[in-house]
Amino acid sequence: MSTDSTKKTIGVALGVCLVCSILVSSAAVSLNSIQEKNKRLDRFKNILAAAGLDPLSGDVVDIYNEKIDPVIIDLSTGNPIPDTEYNEMMDPATFNIKALADNPQFSESIPDNEDIAGINRRPKVMAVYQVRVDGQVQKFVLPIYGKGLWSTLYGFITLDRDLTTVRGITFYEHGETPGLGGEVDNPKWKNQWNGKTAFDEQGRVRITVLKGVVDPTNPASEYQVDGLSGSTITSRGVDQLVKYWLSENGYGPFFDYLKENVLNG
Ligand SMILES: Cc1cc2nc3c(=O)[nH]c(=O)nc-3n(C[C@H](O)[C@H](O)[C@H](O)COP(=O)(O)O)c2cc1C
Repeated sequence: MSTDSTKKTIGVALGVCLVCSILVSSAAVSLNSIQEKNKRLDRFKNILAAAGLDPLSGDVVDIYNEKIDPVIIDLSTGNPIPDTEYNEMMDPATFNIKALADNPQFSESIPDNEDIAGINRRPKVMAVYQVRVDGQVQKFVLPIYGKGLWSTLYGFITLDRDLTTVRGITFYEHGETPGLGGEVDNPKWKNQWNGKTAFDEQGRVRITVLKGVVDPTNPASEYQVDGLSGSTITSRGVDQLVKYWLSENGYGPFFDYLKENVLNG
């Protein structure tokens, strides 16, 4: 009797496990395409927000298709890659920096003396997003990433077509502390970036996240953004990652390409 009931108990337990595992795996498989679609939509929303376009003003995909002209560039030369040469990792709509940076075939290590963003590796190519208004490119939304205190922050910085004026910054992924480093998501802090000057007359990167608050009477204030209070390490991380990506080691070659081939043409 007792052997019988032990067998039965195990049998029922195994049966329940089997049914549950079938349910969970079929749910995972059937939800996969929805998850992929949502990831894509989320990326579009972040790009539109970084471009200063309201993703809620209509259908996100329609606005994205109408206003955003994505290009994959070779980071070291700054040249766009023809879309006939794209591989499966180069879809601008799903471009995954982490997956590319983790793949030795598609990434390169950054020399220590250049790695002010603390990222060790970077993709060899990057998806950048041109914002078109009435057929003309008005802004460039550029992916950026770098180390904060607890995490790597992933986001976008937007430059005007003058390639000097910042039009926005946004982070779509980070693990900084809410209320401290997490204030990178605070719209008030983000709004300060709009209109700041990223480079000086000599083309050097000047934009700086201060430790403290910007003094508007200081002539250098056009290059400065308030630090996040109580969050010196995150603030410094943002300062360094922005400096890295805007420098010659980051998007510099792409800016040179644009100046020579697109903006004066
Ligand atoms: C629980 C906890 C969470 C923290 N989170 C952050 C953070 O997200 N970003 C940050 O820069 N500092 C954070 N800090 C503070 C840092 O440890 C460090 O003290 C701070 O960056 C120094 O900034 P301050 O000179 O502006 O005070 C945190 C501290 C504690 C105790």
